[in-house]
Amino acid sequence: MNAINRLAAVISLASLFPLAAHAADSKGTVEVVHWWTSGGEHAAVKVLQQQVEKDGFTWKDGAVAGGGGATAMTVLKSRSVAGNPPGVAQIKGPDIQEWATTGLLDPDTLKSVAESEHWDKLLSKTVADTMKYEGDYVAVPVDIHRVNWLWINPEAFKKAGIAKAPATLEELYAAADKLKAAGIIPIAHGGQPWQDATVFEDVVLSVMGADGFKKAFVDLDEKTLTGPKMAEVFTQLKKIKGYMDPDGAGQDWNLEAGKVIQGKAGMQFMGDWAKSEWTQAGKKAGTDYECVPFPGTAGSFTYNIDSLAVFKVKDKGSVAAAQDLAKIAMGKDFQEIFNKAKGSIPVRNDMDLSQFDSCAQASAKDFAEADKAGKLEPSMAHNMATTLAVQGAIFDVVTNFMSDKNADATDTAKKLGSAISAAK
Ligand code: BGC
Repeated sequence: MNAINRLAAVISLASLFPLAAHAADSKGTVEVVHWWTSGGEHAAVKVLQQQVEKDGFTWKDGAVAGGGGATAMTVLKSRSVAGNPPGVAQIKGPDIQEWATTGLLDPDTLKSVAESEHWDKLLSKTVADTMKYEGDYVAVPVDIHRVNWLWINPEAFKKAGIAKAPATLEELYAAADKLKAAGIIPIAHGGQPWQDATVFEDVVLSVMGADGFKKAFVDLDEKTLTGPKMAEVFTQLKKIKGYMDPDGAGQDWNLEAGKVIQGKAGMQFMGDWAKSEWTQAGKKAGTDYECVPFPGTAGSFTYNIDSLAVFKVKDKGSVAAAQDLAKIAMGKDFQEIFNKAKGSIPVRNDMDLSQFDSCAQASAKDFAEADKAGKLEPSMAHNMATTLAVQGAIFDVVTNFMSDKNADATDTAKKLGSAISAAK
């Protein structure tokens, strides 16, 4: 059964309208399911909540903890099966299409807002197409994250005698050796499946380049998934694992980011939501920390677009509240404040980024260039490249490999191929 049928099968179409709007609010309620729960993420989403409330609507917070969103997706599915989906939920990439196929998303709510606010003109085609189902917007984009980043504490580098940020895997290992010798954890990393998968896709991009990345995660090409280059990816991944935080098993990404911020660790591989933690700690890009592309991936941009999908709701107040949220989310003011706090770049293409920090400016420039050169890569680890079922199969293989000291790289590449075939 393919992924769409699978989702449709669990969510019967009968009686799937959310329960009536909540509370005795004046204009309407919007319940938002999301997983922005770290300190930095919370500060960012609060901006949206405050603006919705300022407009006289009630915000019902449906936050579900767990970086990467796997737990939030499980909650969303079970609520939908029970006939009680929220008004709005953080859903991304091809999953938007999957959810739309079940008939639960509303193609009408966003129509008037998207038209009057000229979304088609303001969004790059890559972003707009991701938000649409059969030509209609069913989700509102809020930010563009870049995933293939390396975050560096320059103080730690200085202590370890490292002169420059690593640009290749060889330079990465040399820097990691020096950090280790100086008693600093080389790489902060939480051993959760989505974090393992984030590093895995970075290494795929570094070893195989943009074409290989696409073949592996978009085309799910059997030869690429099981071939010698994939075995090479796993070999490198094992080497990287040797430098990772020995206390990282099961750790949240933001706690690991904290170790780099405090100088206990020297580096972290993480999307630029990591910047929200640095910002929360009062640190400045370019002085207190450095952001560089994951070694060997300069010029490529693994993108992760956050978006809020709109569900069918019965009462007018809830529709109005979702429309208000959509209008705010795409507005210039919100795009500036939210993205500065979140670590991402705006989705609108008419923004002046001169007041954004150096990491965001580099990201925006690289996004535009990679888009032009066809080197924009949808992140597999962050739900942009494939279905949840295929992504889950990849997560399992990668995370088992990362936690098994004896796992063989060539065998694992073969396992990856068969796990994906079974999940397709
Ligand atoms: C989301 C980000 C979020 C990160 C960590 C990613 O999948 O797109 O918005 O900050 O997970 O929770």
